[in-house]
Amino acid sequence: MNKNIVLIGFMGAGKSVAARELGKRLNRKVVSTDELVERKEGRSIAQIFQESGEAYFRRCEKDVVWEIAQKKDLIIDCGGGIFLDSDNVANLKRNGIVIYLLATPEVLFERTQGRKHRPLLNVADPHQKIKELLAIREPAYRQAHHVIDTSNKKNHQVCDEILALIES
Ligand code: S3P
Repeated sequence: MNKNIVLIGFMGAGKSVAARELGKRLNRKVVSTDELVERKEGRSIAQIFQESGEAYFRRCEKDVVWEIAQKKDLIIDCGGGIFLDSDNVANLKRNGIVIYLLATPEVLFERTQGRKHRPLLNVADPHQKIKELLAIREPAYRQAHHVIDTSNKKNHQVCDEILALIES
């Protein structure tokens, strides 16, 4: 049995695409915390935020993290806010190698622009919001075991780096 590979970082960092490719390359199961929350709740993240609020979403997210952190051999694609909770950090690090996919605010803005499914970025000035949230979250993300800057890289290059880190 292998440790989980846990991808964290801001919205638009490329966690989901990297998780899918790693799943194929390693022949491992991929789980997305956002998808698990949506499945359990039977509604989208946007709906959960709108109807029940962010605090409720964070509780759902924490339940899902607790469940998957008990397992092994997974690739875990984490929602961007998961490392803000210290229990989530401890649970995911216990059984997993945690990799922070970093990108500059400009790149994150470009990658998330025009996509409407992320309630936290549905604001008048998403670029400014990204800068503010990233400044607050950076110390939490830095609790990862490894950091990879994805800003000017293609997904396959990011995955090569992740695999090199894991094999080392
Ligand atoms: C969030 C990131 C989203 C999703 C929710 C909140 C965040 O996931 O969990 O909209 O707080 O950064 P992605 O990082 O997969 O977009």
